[in-house]
Amino acid sequence: MAFPAGFGWGASTAAYQVEGGWDADGKGPSVWDTFTHQGGERVFKNQTGDVACGSYTLWEEDLKCIKQLGLTHYRFSLSWSRLLPDGTTGFINQKGIDYYNKIIDDLLTNGVTPIVTLYHYDLPQALEDKGGWLSETVIESFDKYARFCFSTFGDRVKQWITINEPNVFALLAYDLGIYAPGVPHFGTGAYQAAHNLIKAHARSWHSYDSLFRKEQKGMVSLTIFAAWVEPADPNSVSDQEAAKRAIAFCLDFFAKPIFSDGDYPEVVKSQIAFMSKKQGYPSSRLPEFTEEEKSMIKGTADFFAVHYYTTRLVKYQENKKGELGFFQDVEIQIFPDPSWIRSLDWIYVVPWGIRKVLKYIKDTYNNPVIYITENGFPQRDPASLDDTQRWEYFRQTFQELFKAIQLDKVNCKIYCLWSLLDNFEWIQGYNSRFGLFHVDFEDPARPRVPYTSAKEYAKLIQNNGLEE
Ligand code: NOJ
Repeated sequence: MAFPAGFGWGASTAAYQVEGGWDADGKGPSVWDTFTHQGGERVFKNQTGDVACGSYTLWEEDLKCIKQLGLTHYRFSLSWSRLLPDGTTGFINQKGIDYYNKIIDDLLTNGVTPIVTLYHYDLPQALEDKGGWLSETVIESFDKYARFCFSTFGDRVKQWITINEPNVFALLAYDLGIYAPGVPHFGTGAYQAAHNLIKAHARSWHSYDSLFRKEQKGMVSLTIFAAWVEPADPNSVSDQEAAKRAIAFCLDFFAKPIFSDGDYPEVVKSQIAFMSKKQGYPSSRLPEFTEEEKSMIKGTADFFAVHYYTTRLVKYQENKKGELGFFQDVEIQIFPDPSWIRSLDWIYVVPWGIRKVLKYIKDTYNNPVIYITENGFPQRDPASLDDTQRWEYFRQTFQELFKAIQLDKVNCKIYCLWSLLDNFEWIQGYNSRFGLFHVDFEDPARPRVPYTSAKEYAKLIQNNGLEE
């Protein structure tokens, strides 16, 4: 199974999950620093990202892993408050710039293309104090931060992700309140945050387009978490409707405004209006875009970046709240097929789901260039270095990805595996090990040791495909 020549094979990480050095060299606190330091058992064993994999001081070790794998791409995120400690360009932390310059330069010297995420859940605390993603003022702050990054690193970085998984982030951080900043706003928080996230993304895309594109010739997009869903009973009209609504409330919620016409899907708007009315709200809990905003938002992405982890069956269920990146109000019940293997609480191994997601994006969004910027399966703690079973899940996923490219003619150019290293898996702390390299979090030196999967992935990259 030879993949197309030049296909990109990468791995991904995110700043808070790997860097540590939470207050090193002038870094300002982010919401995740505050949240984890508050304790209260909201994170597994009250663990924090204070040290994590220590990548802030151990970047050279990460680079060795990257070279050992032979990656063509490495996706990582910038810590906003490491660069701009209070979130504004009023004070710039040169040490932060130096750190990321070194990463970017080392990658390029070694023939690895950087894919850089500007925002992966770690808002500077100073901006959270002004209302965070619930406040419109964050849009301007994000745009300034993005411009700062484009002008500082854009001579070398050509592939940018503005915001990581806004669908998961808006729901978990601002609606359910289980991610930092940790304050629930049930039924309204996700929509308000999502509205600002979309506008912030679009604004920064325009900034790139008008100020940097000509000279830097790069590409800008955002990443969307896409769980696939199938109607529980394929012959039931209500289950089919539920499946469509599920995809609209997860993937299309962000993709339609940005990749299509600047506005939310009709089914999302009508469903939220219906639910809001039923609950006695004077108007829909989903904010509306003005006509001007719609034209500002539409078309603001240069490729489609998607994350695939898992699949569910769905059924209509009155008043059932959202979960797993499906927003509230969706009124679906989601559950696995009993035959699917469970790799983690929320990850059932369904390799064919990746092919369905890719085909859906191709058909719905006019055959865009697609990057898979995350896909993965964890080892549980304590992890064995022999993860042959886990590699089998990956192998099956690659077979489906191959079919998507070969048979469905999906225009997928890059696959990035989550993750390079075992790292801080948000509220699961260090208890879910998604890495290709095992990290010993008890050892101050944080040694990185390859799992069997790392060796297999290196072979696959070398061959640009699977042997069978
Ligand atoms: C999505 C997120 O982007 C990443 O931060 C997280 O660790 C993985 N999924 C696994 O849950």
